[in-house]
Amino acid sequence: MCGIVGYVGNKNATPVLIKALKKLEYRGYDSAGVAIYTGEEILVQKAKGKLLNLAEKITGEIIPDQVKKQDFSDTEMALYDKTGDFIKGCMGIGHTRWATHGEPSDLNSHPHTNMDGSISIVHNGIIENYADLKAKLQAQGIVFKSQTDTEVVVHLLDQKYKASGDIFKAVIETLHVLEGSYAIGVICKDYPDRIIAARKESPLVVGIGKGENFIASDVPALLEHTRDVYYLGERELAVLYTDHVDLFNFDGEKIIKQPSHVEWDMDAATKGGYEHFMIKEIHEQPKGLTDTMRPRIVKDASGKPVDVYFEENKMDEAWKKASRVVITACGTAYHAGVVAKYAFEKIARMKVDVDVASEFRYRDPILDPSDIFMVISQSGETADTLSALRLAKEQGLKVVAITNCVGSTVSREADDVIYTLAGPEIAVASTKAYTTQLLCLFLLAVKAGKLRGTLSDEEATKLLCELESIPSKIQEILDGKDVIQKFASQQFNKDKIFYIGRQFDSATSLESALKLKEVSYMHSEAFAAGELKHGPIALIDPATLVVAIASEPKLYDKIGSNMVEVKSRGATVMVITQDSGDAFEGKADLVCKIPECSSTLASLLTVIPAQLFAYYCAIMRGYNPDKPRNLAKSVTVE
Ligand code: AGP
Ligand code: GLU
Repeated sequence: MCGIVGYVGNKNATPVLIKALKKLEYRGYDSAGVAIYTGEEILVQKAKGKLLNLAEKITGEIIPDQVKKQDFSDTEMALYDKTGDFIKGCMGIGHTRWATHGEPSDLNSHPHTNMDGSISIVHNGIIENYADLKAKLQAQGIVFKSQTDTEVVVHLLDQKYKASGDIFKAVIETLHVLEGSYAIGVICKDYPDRIIAARKESPLVVGIGKGENFIASDVPALLEHTRDVYYLGERELAVLYTDHVDLFNFDGEKIIKQPSHVEWDMDAATKGGYEHFMIKEIHEQPKGLTDTMRPRIVKDASGKPVDVYFEENKMDEAWKKASRVVITACGTAYHAGVVAKYAFEKIARMKVDVDVASEFRYRDPILDPSDIFMVISQSGETADTLSALRLAKEQGLKVVAITNCVGSTVSREADDVIYTLAGPEIAVASTKAYTTQLLCLFLLAVKAGKLRGTLSDEEATKLLCELESIPSKIQEILDGKDVIQKFASQQFNKDKIFYIGRQFDSATSLESALKLKEVSYMHSEAFAAGELKHGPIALIDPATLVVAIASEPKLYDKIGSNMVEVKSRGATVMVITQDSGDAFEGKADLVCKIPECSSTLASLLTVIPAQLFAYYCAIMRGYNPDKPRNLAKSVTVE
């Protein structure tokens, strides 16, 4: 959620910061601001709305609406460069805000400053005890300018700085008073050579440059400048100077950390010729799956796949003995967990319970130390998922995490990490992260089946061979995307879209409906096909599109009957199936064929047409699928 950036070096900080914030736009935001030390004072500019509004405010120049619609246009970039002519200074912090406390407005935007403007901060997260702190500060005569929770931090900092005369000490003391989650960046007029940054439960990365250093909420903001980073850990601080960075824990003790080198390049974080990140990432799935699979499939001397290997191989014994797998996750990652339930049951004959993390954390779950606890999170920063992970660890369970983000909080706190090697996912709606999660779960199910003796060597080899063929099958679906695009052009005005499926396909229905509602804002729901007759069928009328997902030949008759039931009540019907015969003839308006595949692994294919359909519906309805309203990429608050 939101973005933080900071710069200390010899360049003009204002354009550097605004362009870095631009790279964090995918996280979602409603306002933006910068605070720059000019050599004499800290100058703050902030504006509700897009970064372009901020740049317009700084430069006084007005950009035509037409240009505003084109992301990363030359005009936009030129305007950001121009901001440096108006605010000059080589150190500063910047912020894109996603309001949690107080409406989106110029005043509530960050950075926030103390009363005399000598200290300025940016904050991502929520200060849970802000009301108490604010009441106390107000009682002492402090005047608040905003409605945010964040503003208490800067006034507290001011008080503590005045008491000790040491800004670093003041930051540490302030952090000890704060409850909640935060990544913060601080600058102080009396310390014009440094930025202080700290994190607890919100991501923050330090970029190590030559004669310049940076902070950012995520790596894409830094890649133009450096690939060497420190992933700040939980309850860690960084003090950044032009020529070096010092790291500390919350007790103020120095810590030593190895920098990480970011392997992926800018291309991976830019649109590379595609109109939107979402469609680019949909097309990156064959590569993402190949990258994720290749290092994990073990082959014998003849090249036959025989086993699965994960780098972090610490939990073999636990897998052998486990009586159950408990999976928690949110949103799309939860849907991957639902697929895993069927996969582990079928492939490894293991019992799986799967729950959304926000429900799990407030239940009184019955956990056994012999359970394997699994969290799935693309970002590795989702607050609910993290709390579930911590709850399981407190109860003595071993946790395995599946995540796409190296250095994320989930990756650091889990006992065992399996990385999806999908590359950065920028679009808010998850696509390649989902299919690479599915792949890791299938691989893990094969591994578990082998370890537990519930899957024969022949069956394992068959599944692994088939997994190896999945990327090219996805490519085949992508090559035929025109059919989906055309169908979307006929259906994008439907009132309601229902996805139905059985078994694995009911899980894909959940993900398909979520994708569509996220980016096109069409009302879509998913039902287990057998449940239609228990209620949802009452909703069917000619304004309804029903998408049936049918990958299991044994169930073609059953789902075929469901299609006839809805079609005879006026619904338009599409079926996504691998049937190459006539199982659905006369039962659907569009039969969308996917390449043949065993029904066990077909979830990796059936979701692709649904992703494309969601994307094209969004475009035809005039929405930018990369930045859906009300959504953020990384949900670091409850
Ligand atoms: C996916 O399209 C969504 N934006 C959302 O449901 C997401 O999957 C969810 O917030 C979980 O995120 P995570 O994988 O980063 O934990
Ligand atoms: N809670 C803070 C606010 O509402 C920060 C929100 C954010 O993370 O952007 O201003």
